[in-house]
Amino acid sequence: MNLVFLGPPGVGKGTQSALVAKELGLLHLATGDLLRAAGRAGTKTGLEAKTYMDAGLLVPDEVVNRLVRERMEQGDAEKGVLLDGYPRTTAQALALDATLKALGRVIDGVFDLQAPDAVLVERISGRRTCGKCHAAYHVKFAPSKKGDLCAKCGGALVQRSDDELVTVKARLEVYRKDTAGVSEHYRKSGTYALIDSNRPIDTVTADVLGRAKKLS
Ligand code: AP5
Repeated sequence: MNLVFLGPPGVGKGTQSALVAKELGLLHLATGDLLRAAGRAGTKTGLEAKTYMDAGLLVPDEVVNRLVRERMEQGDAEKGVLLDGYPRTTAQALALDATLKALGRVIDGVFDLQAPDAVLVERISGRRTCGKCHAAYHVKFAPSKKGDLCAKCGGALVQRSDDELVTVKARLEVYRKDTAGVSEHYRKSGTYALIDSNRPIDTVTADVLGRAKKLS
């Protein structure tokens, strides 16, 4: 099974993708995570990508398309992939269609998570990420049982460099301008579902899993 999770910054794509991918045994492929890992590794691609990310802008299509294609060609992607935060432009959606066709696969379900802007801003401003294992928390909605330390590995919790308010506003504008239209690419395909993400985390997970299990 291959799934796509769409939606604005902070809507809960990463949170839901991790839970759903684990439950369904899919590879969780998040382009934001791939790009941040490349930045930490100090590769040319990663350092270039970081300048776009810190400004709240999209990394160029050809860079992201290549990273996704290379990751999807690896053996552990054969069990099925959950794409989190990709595609984000119509050009990326077309590139994904081509990659899937070359691999002899199809998209089984597209989940478009949505919530009001005020909710997104509150979620992003309270998000904390482990500096060591990169697990995500929220100071109010999903706090770590160890306070300022990661409950999984004990690493210090930090705020993402693109989670400052001014950058968040830029990310939301980019979403409206470049990414919201990607939903149209899928809406007519019969695989598309709009998900109300303005509900508790486990309610959203149950909704998505219920729908995904009907696809298999
Ligand atoms: P990326 O890392 O993908 O960021 P994003 O899309 O902006 O999404 P976020 O990670 O901010 O939020 P999310 O929806 O995953 O929410 P989360 O689950 O963490 O991309 C970062 C950057 O990389 C982009 O700006 C761009 O520069 C670049 N990039 C990435 N992909 C690209 C692409 N395809 N093309 C070009 N450039 C690309 O939840 C947020 C918080 O809310 C958490 O604290 C969580 O605990 C909490 N929370 C989640 N759900 C709930 C709930 N139901 N109730 C209460 N709290 C909740």
